[in-house]
This record gives sequence, C-alpha cells and structure tokens, in this order.
Amino acid sequence: MRTETQNISIEKVTESRINEVDFNNLAFGSVFTDHMYECDFKDGKWQTPVIKPYGPIMMAPSAKVFHYGQAVFEGMKAYKADDDTIWMFRPEENQKRINISSGRLQMPAFPKELFFEGLETLLKLDRDWIQKGEDNSMYIRPFVIATEAGVSASPSNEYKFMFLLSPAQAYFKAGSGVKVLFADKFSRSANGGVGYAKAAGNYAGQFYPTHLAQEAGYQQVVWTDADKHESLEEAGVMNVFFRVGDTLITAPTSDRILDGITRKSIIQVAENEGIKVEVRTVSVYEIEDAAKNGTLLEMFGAGTAAVVSSISGFGFKGNDYELPKLDDKDCYAIRLRKRITDIQTNKAEDIFGWRYQVKE
Ligand code: COI
Repeated sequence: MRTETQNISIEKVTESRINEVDFNNLAFGSVFTDHMYECDFKDGKWQTPVIKPYGPIMMAPSAKVFHYGQAVFEGMKAYKADDDTIWMFRPEENQKRINISSGRLQMPAFPKELFFEGLETLLKLDRDWIQKGEDNSMYIRPFVIATEAGVSASPSNEYKFMFLLSPAQAYFKAGSGVKVLFADKFSRSANGGVGYAKAAGNYAGQFYPTHLAQEAGYQQVVWTDADKHESLEEAGVMNVFFRVGDTLITAPTSDRILDGITRKSIIQVAENEGIKVEVRTVSVYEIEDAAKNGTLLEMFGAGTAAVVSSISGFGFKGNDYELPKLDDKDCYAIRLRKRITDIQTNKAEDIFGWRYQVKE
C-alpha cells in the first residue's frame, strides 16, 4: 500500500518481520526494522523522500561511493520510556554533524526539516520495534552516499541520504570490560585530515590494525597522534576518558578527533556532579605512570553505540596494565552512565534540555 504524508511517499510492508526477531539476543547492527528512508539528490536538489520496505538498493557498479569512498554516516538512538513515549537524545547535534561531515567530503548538506520529518515518520511507523528496558534502544543509522555513475575522481553530482533503524542492546558484552591497545605504529587520522568527520573510510582504515590488536587479545585500539604516538586521542568507536585520582581527563576535540555527543554530555554531567574534569592533551606516558603508581583508577569509552563502556586494562609497547576493580558506588563510569541513560529514557529530570520527544 502506498500513502503520501505531506512530503514523503510511504510504501508499507505487507507483513511485518517483527515476530522473527529475538530481542533478547541482538548482535549490534545485525537486525533492521521493516522500513527504511531514502532521499535522492539530483539536478542540484533533494527530491521527494520515500519510506519503503527495508531491502537492497540498486546502484551502478561505477557509482562513486564504491570507488572513492564518498560516504558519511551518523549514529543516533531512540528510546521507549515506560509510558511508551519515544525519545531521542540531542538529535540536533547529529543532524548538524552529518552536514559537517558531508561538507568535508564535498557532499551537499541535508536540510534539517527533511531530516526530522523523515526520521520521526520512520520511527513512528516502526515504533513496535523499539524495546523498553535497560540497555534497549533503537540504533538509528543516517548515511549519505555518492550515487553518480562514473569513475572520474571528482565529487558526485548525485547522492542518496538514508535512515536505517536497528534495534540494539549493549555494544560491548556486559562483564569484565573492554581491553584496549594504545597505538604505537598505525594512525587513524592526521592534522588537516578527516578524523573529525564521520567519514566511512575513517572506520575502514581501522579494521586492519584493530584486527591485529584483536589477535593479540585486545578489543579496541586507542589511537594516538600520528606524529609521535605520544598523546591519546580516541578509540575505534568511542571517545576515551581517564580517571587519575579523582580527576576525569579527556583529549580536546580537534581536526583529528570526533566531536562526540556522548563525550560532551559526559563532561557536562560530570561537572554537574562536582567531578573535576580536565580537557587537555593526555600523554601515553602520564597514563602509563599513573597505572604503575596506582593512581589510574578508571578508563572508559563514551559513544552513542557504546554509551559508557568501562575499560579493564590497556597494552602499550609490549606491556600490559590492569585497572583496579572498583565497587559500583565508587565508579565514575557506572555513575555517569546511569545519569546519561536516565535522561535518555525519561527517567530523570532533563536539566540540560537534551531530550527530544517524538510526538504522535
Ligand atoms: C556510534 O557510536 O554511533 C558509532 O559511530 C559507532 C559505530 C561505528 C558502531
């Protein structure tokens, strides 16, 4: 059946797949809801968007995205509160950031009105897929790809903007925490590069070094500056925080580091809790010394998918360091994660004005 909202053409599935899904056993990003959103850019403008059943898309094999990686994406989440209302967390930040990423890759900005109209219509259509309860959310994947056929190495004249929805649980398995390796050879980004953008290629470039790290028993790489490998920047899918004594330290954003929305929310929440936060260059040697002298109490990652994920230890240049196991009540990661998720799921007062309700 095809219907039209004011601006979106909607083709609904004839039968939902929802009953085939085991919502208690979801591998991150592996299950998608019944519908997806598509909007094409052609002749210098965005065309009428469509929502249609989730499925393959057709593109010329010479489409520029396949050859030059002209592609950007975002990661967002929607939550269902106990009273069935649907909420997003600071979605305007993602909307702005995808256009910042697009700009860096010489791609057109996607208008804010289309972004919100499309996303909210899609979320309402697939609302039954949004599960309530701890750790449950709907991961939202907006992305833009260059669709023009032709392999000349120049920006595409045609693009596709899409939203996919994927029900999600915790990104990292609950339990002992994530073990990370501090990079001392490979680099993720360079000065003047695309590190601050959510460019698809930023992630592809991490796969090989991360694979090597995983073979050596680590789950993620914490990237260091490309020049000397002396300052700690960000982990593969999240920004990183270090707790030395009672102070929380994280690297400043730059053209090499993603301006993480969870990262900046954590900084505000921690300061609001009276925790001392330092945003400054974090030296690998300072963290290694703190691990040796017992003042490194915590490390954790922060990101949309990862939320706040504790790091259990790190490796650097052949040495491994374990972090102490703190009681839950003494642990900044647990405390900050709860503050953030309570705001996200409408369980706590939103003193920062971050929550965004998807209105019926
Ligand atoms: C997110 O947190 O949304 C990310 O970008 C991580 C993703 C690459 C899995």
